[in-house]
Amino acid sequence: MELNLYWTRELSVGVDQIDAQHRELFDHVNQLLSACLADKGSAAQSEQMLTFLHNYANEHFRAEEALMEEHHYQALEMHRRQHLGFCRRLQQLERRLLDNPAKQELAAEINEMVIDWLYEHICMEDRALGNFIRQASA
Ligand SMILES: [Fe+2]
Repeated sequence: MELNLYWTRELSVGVDQIDAQHRELFDHVNQLLSACLADKGSAAQSEQMLTFLHNYANEHFRAEEALMEEHHYQALEMHRRQHLGFCRRLQQLERRLLDNPAKQELAAEINEMVIDWLYEHICMEDRALGNFIRQASA
């Protein structure tokens, strides 16, 4: 199973701060995925990685939301709701991890719950936000 998040230039939203945080977010997801796929490490370690990912996602979302507020971005509420939805997915994963599913199974769930969401959110919402910020600062 080849599951990895690759950050490419097409995923750039044109705002350096956001792009850098997305790359870091991808790194955290990949670390968790490889640990699950290699079936390495204890459940406690995976849990730690997941908590780390969750904290980082929160931090990143707060940064994006601060930018939206600063620029009086109209779609802020809708965008914020999406961020909340993602955090709920991570909480679900945290619960699943405590149930002790097979690691491969968990990797498939991460793929479905995290990766698909991230690609779609970045390509749609974050890109729209990036365009807006760039126009506002031009
Ligand atoms: Fe976002």
